[in-house]
Amino acid sequence: MNNPNQSPMSPSAAPVMQAESLTRHYGVSQGAFKPKLTVKALVDVSFSLAAGQTLAVVGESGCGKSTLARQLTLIEEPTEGRLQVGGEWVVPGDRTQYKRLRSQVQMVFQNPYASLNPRQKIGHQIAEPLLLNTTLSADERKQKVQEILQRVGLRPEHADRYAHMFSGGQRQRIAIARAMVLQPKILVADEPTSALDVSIQAQVLNLFMDLQEQLQTAYVFISHNLAVVEHIADHVMVMYLGRVVESAPKEALFSRALHPYTQALLSATPSIDPAQRQKKIPITGELPSPLNPPSGCAFHKRCPRADARCSSELPLLREVEGRLVACHHV
Ligand SMILES: Nc1ncnc2c1ncn2[C@@H]1O[C@H](COP(=O)(O)OP(=O)(O)OP(=O)(O)O)[C@@H](O)[C@H]1O
Ligand SMILES: [Mg+2]
Repeated sequence: MNNPNQSPMSPSAAPVMQAESLTRHYGVSQGAFKPKLTVKALVDVSFSLAAGQTLAVVGESGCGKSTLARQLTLIEEPTEGRLQVGGEWVVPGDRTQYKRLRSQVQMVFQNPYASLNPRQKIGHQIAEPLLLNTTLSADERKQKVQEILQRVGLRPEHADRYAHMFSGGQRQRIAIARAMVLQPKILVADEPTSALDVSIQAQVLNLFMDLQEQLQTAYVFISHNLAVVEHIADHVMVMYLGRVVESAPKEALFSRALHPYTQALLSATPSIDPAQRQKKIPITGELPSPLNPPSGCAFHKRCPRADARCSSELPLLREVEGRLVACHHV
């Protein structure tokens, strides 16, 4: 377990979110009369995040990114570990605290089509968090909705329209408005641009960055795409099969990745600058099943540098060159 206070991410300002060894297991049924199996979807994840900062979480499909998002947004309770939100450590089972903290950490999902109600005017949907969490009057709520619509690049009259009247990019702006209307301290965005046209992705990323500058919201930005993350992140956490394998300031990670998995991910990311183009390191084989993870280092079966030790001994996260990395060969 790494101590988040010693992690290279430790910002000078007080953290608005801290995770300490967050772990989430799921029981999965194999059918009647068979014992349940345990999926270790998230294991021992720690970090610390300050206001106005962006932590990017990257990794292949199934590595536990959305599971982490559900723990951070208090949608689920972790199996082990603890979480600090907005300066308060979460007390399991404390409903009053839970309600208070839920308004401080909001989420934007991948699919803006699924996250909006087709039968309600979008003004009503954006105002809903205000109705549930504040004592503002109807006029004040309307005012707030108009303000946030403008901030996300939409017009006041859009409040009276329905979701189907908007493009995918506009719908994602509406989802962002809904998440930001309470001015949460933390926004968790789970692949927020993956479902959008490439031409729209950059606009939505810019919107995230503008809002952060104006409101100092801390972001946990989840993506399988390192190219997307390069623009927005301050710090990057690379996950593999539920565990963090490398956690580094963005500049350090993009100039010199240390973990073989990060190197392979980076080499698969297209770069416009020819000087930045790296030799392709193919990741061979499939991501192993978290139901039956390999012994030792979970990446060893796909790693070009693996040896006998990697197949038997789990590499722990340790500090190397101003970052955390879990590899026997670094
Ligand atoms: N409720 C659940 N019950 C059982 N297993 C689950 C549950 N939720 C997630 N898992 C398993 O946990 C692992 C991590 O899933 P998760 O959705 O967090 O991955 P992800 O990194 O978000 O993937 P993707 O990039 O495809 O969205 C997967 O193996 C998944 O099957
Ligand atoms: Mg996911």
